[in-house]
Amino acid sequence: NYKVDINNVKENIPPTLWGLFFEDINRSGDGGIYAELIKNRSFDFPDPYMGWKLDPPRHMYAKHEIFQVINQSAVNENNPKYLQVTINNPEKISLANEGFGGITVKKGMGYELTVVYRQKTSGINLKFELINAENKSVGSTTIKPSSTDNEWQTVKAIITTKDTIIKGKLLLNFEGTGKIDLDRISLFPSDTWMNRKGGLRNDLVQDLYDIHPGFLRFPGGCIVEGKTPNTRYQWKTTIGPLEQRKLISNQWQEGAAGKPLPDYFQSFGLGFYEYFQLCEDLKAAALPILNCGLSCQFDAAEVVPMDEMSSYVQDALDLIEFANGDVTTAWGKKRAALGHPESFNMKMLGIGNENWGPQYIERLELFREAIKTKYPYMQLICATGYSPNPQFHFMDSALRKMNVDIIDEHYYQTANWFLMNASKYDHYDRKGPKIFLGEYACMSTRIGSPENKNTLFCALAEAAFMTGVERNADIICMAAYAPLFAHVKDWQWTPNLIWFDNSTSFRTPSYYVQQLFSMNKGTSMASITENGNVIAGSDSIWASAVIDKHTGEVIIKLVNPSGKGKAKKIEVPQLGNSKSTATITVLKADDGNAMNSLGQPLNVVPVSSTIPINNRTISVALPKYSFSVIKIRS
Ligand code: AHR
Repeated sequence: NYKVDINNVKENIPPTLWGLFFEDINRSGDGGIYAELIKNRSFDFPDPYMGWKLDPPRHMYAKHEIFQVINQSAVNENNPKYLQVTINNPEKISLANEGFGGITVKKGMGYELTVVYRQKTSGINLKFELINAENKSVGSTTIKPSSTDNEWQTVKAIITTKDTIIKGKLLLNFEGTGKIDLDRISLFPSDTWMNRKGGLRNDLVQDLYDIHPGFLRFPGGCIVEGKTPNTRYQWKTTIGPLEQRKLISNQWQEGAAGKPLPDYFQSFGLGFYEYFQLCEDLKAAALPILNCGLSCQFDAAEVVPMDEMSSYVQDALDLIEFANGDVTTAWGKKRAALGHPESFNMKMLGIGNENWGPQYIERLELFREAIKTKYPYMQLICATGYSPNPQFHFMDSALRKMNVDIIDEHYYQTANWFLMNASKYDHYDRKGPKIFLGEYACMSTRIGSPENKNTLFCALAEAAFMTGVERNADIICMAAYAPLFAHVKDWQWTPNLIWFDNSTSFRTPSYYVQQLFSMNKGTSMASITENGNVIAGSDSIWASAVIDKHTGEVIIKLVNPSGKGKAKKIEVPQLGNSKSTATITVLKADDGNAMNSLGQPLNVVPVSSTIPINNRTISVALPKYSFSVIKIRS
């Protein structure tokens, strides 16, 4: 028999325990959650025509007679390029934008078009059309530029669609003659998250919201480090008016594990302000990660000299002021000007992503000294590299010697590893730093390969491991699966928690495991044992138990990743005798290889029912390949 002890509760479970890791990998940001439909909207990609095509195509000479890309980097370093269009003879000339793998629109919806123009010689009207694969227009609008005062103007219009398009384009027809400069050409659906203009995709944020995450880590991942210091993520260039946000290439452009995407850039339409706002929407604690003066150690591994580190450290101090400072502070004032006078109440900050070695330790010291002096309450997350990392033990002991707040561990491992390591934290030092499981995911085969699938079995291995995390929530303060999102056509990494295309998404079995843990995290750690021992693999069952002081519930989690059903009796001696039923929610399938997909998004989903309690004991059948969550109101 299994015995649950709810009297001897050990510790409070941190409300942050189960959270999210966001990185713009696999087209998660631009082309993903950031709802912009136009690729290269400001002509600022290194190839300014990337994403744009002349329709009909014409010879280079004819093209250059009409279109010139002007690069005014001396005037606007962050957004230097724009397109100048000169038409002397009226003729049919169009530019088409291909969007991100095509432009997808829904029938009957409004799409907000924004155009930034400067008219040199009036006479050109701009007719925008949404075109389907058969070259038919499903909606259009014409902008007649009126201003001729040689200043940039922003004009908006709505295109309402009379049909759905799966893979279309936005056609810009130039009508008339004249000379006009065009900078941003942008198109957003009107049903963004919270109806914010230029905001995020509603369905994808809903996927996040439904997990009820305790924290959101952003903006990555390796993206924080950059291939070189020049292409590192710099939060200051991601806030404010869009034209001040400086586009850079995406760290994942070359593909790493998956396919290269030469058109993968970070426009930073989703920048640090939007991340903080998202945290607030999700009621998740904000956990930004900053570059620590080392570029990605899997790439060029460039090291910023110690005597040039001050601007990096200053960026961290300024970020804290931006998030928390009142409106009298320089950065607090900027936040207020963006629409958020209240503090974002940030309490944690990551220094470096997967960085390691003595170079990391000495740079970390600089950040720690400066941040703790000014903001002693700020909890710092410290990196250990990538596991299995030969330097892990060096890093772990160096960080423990420094008595840092929180150590960030990453695990991309096999199912066997997750199952065998579910007791790993039972033996960790309780007095040292807390642990942040900053990234983890079970791989069915090699990371990044197309064969590496989000199977139910992998999700169950993660669940088994997570019972160990829950049992050790006194030292593990946060944990996040990684990566979070992947576009089904444009991914570089496998596995991922949520897969999407341009209009919809599906949740993997791992998603449901995360959601079941997060929504049933409880408030205090109870225990479930068999003959006094933790249940971590004996008879192929892994288990944990918590209580929720707010709802009065006892919550028991049981994982059976084996191919055989098991019958177990669970006794809760301290339960009132009148209790006769509990609810049980089960995630299962007949085959451990079962998965969800865009076509079959609900193939593996949790299903709830009730189960009798007799004499404070539950007899439960744990199906093969299953994860069960039992809830009893005590
Ligand atoms: O999650 C994908 C990548 O894995 C992250 O960017 C990095 O931190 C880790 O190596």
